[in-house]
Amino acid sequence: MRAERLQDRLRQDGLPGTLVRSIRVRSFAVAAWLLLALGAGAARAQTLVEHIGDTPRYNAVVAAARPLAPPDPARVALGRQLFSDNRLSQPRGTSCASCHDANTGFTGFHGGRDGVASGSIRSRLGFRNPPALTYAKFVPPLYFYQDDDATQPAPFGGLMLDGRADTLAAQSREPLLARHEMNLGTEAAAATRLRAVGYRQAFETLYGPGVLDDPRRAVQAFGASVEAYLQSDELAPFDSRFDDFLRGDTKALTAQEMKGLAIFRNPDQGNCASCHLVSQTSSNPARSLFTDFGYEALGVPRNTRLPANTDPRHYDLGLCTTARAHHWPEPDSWCGYFRTPSLRNVAVRTRYMHNGVFDSLRQAVRFYAIRSTKPQEFYGKGPMFNDLPAGMRGNVNIQSSPMNRKAGAAPAMSEEDIDAVVAFLGTLTDKRYRTAKPAP
Ligand code: HEC
Ligand code: HEC
Repeated sequence: MRAERLQDRLRQDGLPGTLVRSIRVRSFAVAAWLLLALGAGAARAQTLVEHIGDTPRYNAVVAAARPLAPPDPARVALGRQLFSDNRLSQPRGTSCASCHDANTGFTGFHGGRDGVASGSIRSRLGFRNPPALTYAKFVPPLYFYQDDDATQPAPFGGLMLDGRADTLAAQSREPLLARHEMNLGTEAAAATRLRAVGYRQAFETLYGPGVLDDPRRAVQAFGASVEAYLQSDELAPFDSRFDDFLRGDTKALTAQEMKGLAIFRNPDQGNCASCHLVSQTSSNPARSLFTDFGYEALGVPRNTRLPANTDPRHYDLGLCTTARAHHWPEPDSWCGYFRTPSLRNVAVRTRYMHNGVFDSLRQAVRFYAIRSTKPQEFYGKGPMFNDLPAGMRGNVNIQSSPMNRKAGAAPAMSEEDIDAVVAFLGTLTDKRYRTAKPAP
């Protein structure tokens, strides 16, 4: 279908390579892929077409492999220190690292349970599974893009699983103040705490005199420092076995892992690469981030153990909350959508999906294989897509392979195939985590 058409077009243009992405309903790959194929992806700037609500729509996708300015080493050093300083919470004892532990791929639960983390007040549990922060620097700010043959523009990028924060700096200020996280409450309280624990000199050296006496500037400087740290190579080392393979070490992957990679890419089997993007031609690992930063509604089962879910009327609606805040038309059509995460370091995680409903990688992969063929395994006797209100279940993607089969049909991946994909995903683990223990 569209995949073949694009390949034809590329062949006519005499461009190298095979198509990596494939059939997708709101697909947008054409321009992205052409840019990559032309080797111009990093250089080509986007032009603004219009605004949808107050979100820009561009004429091209923002290439993940775009050049990113290297962060200032002095800010990185301060940011690293702030990131794991557990005096910056109320009560003391919680830092960013409590939920994003550098030793476990920047994930963690801080003693929380069932897929959500505890805040500095231990009884206050969060609402979502803390995402891994490795490679987060590549997430572009929220924007729309419409592919040639897509019926409508689709959103990409934005931090947080619902895209509500545009920059790492803006994002980093939120947990500092949030009551279920570090709980400092106000910018004034955060500034007072930064002064009290001895950051005056370090902040003034980098951000000017009096910076910690002005709460707004203080919190902005905190964000800028943490952002620099999160943008450092420490969080994007690209030294997994898969990266060795990309760079030409053909023996880096075992036969089973190679089989898993083939299934991952095959549009008729895993079809994973249609959303978890992987380049087939580029040895630049930043072109294989295992996400297109797009949004999808997968209809993952409700995690009934989450404290918030004891209220049957409570639903985590994901992207439509952001859609409302940005005044997009028909915001409810985005309910249930979450940003496609990178799968780099995914094997280091212990909980999967935005609501942490799965506690093994195999189960997460298996979900794709049998969600549509044996729904009862995931939803019991109840309705499918039970983590969305009945009126919004129609938003869930039922068109993309492998989730488009009929109940009772043979799944697109066998149990052996699932094992191979899981083995392949294990090759995406950065060197430092290969012996990591599960997140506490
Ligand atoms: C109590 C646990 C907890 C603490 C403490 C915490 N986070 Fe998070 N973090 C989360 C959760 C949960 C999410 C996902 C939230 C969402 O999507 O609504 C998240 C999301 C993020 C993201 C977005 C990642 C992405 O892919 O979009 C970044 C960046 C981040 N946190 C950085 C930080 C920083 C910096 C700090 C310290 C100032 C911090 N976090 C403290 C739990 C925590
Ligand atoms: C249609 C787009 C799409 C396709 C196809 C797809 N994924 Fe995903 N994937 C997503 C989105 C979106 C999420 C986040 C969903 C959520 O949290 O509700 C996700 C989440 C995941 C997660 C959990 C990651 C985490 O950190 O919690 C894993 C593992 C995963 N996908 C693996 C795969 C594999 C393996 C395949 C192929 C069999 C695949 N995906 C196919 C879009 C897709």
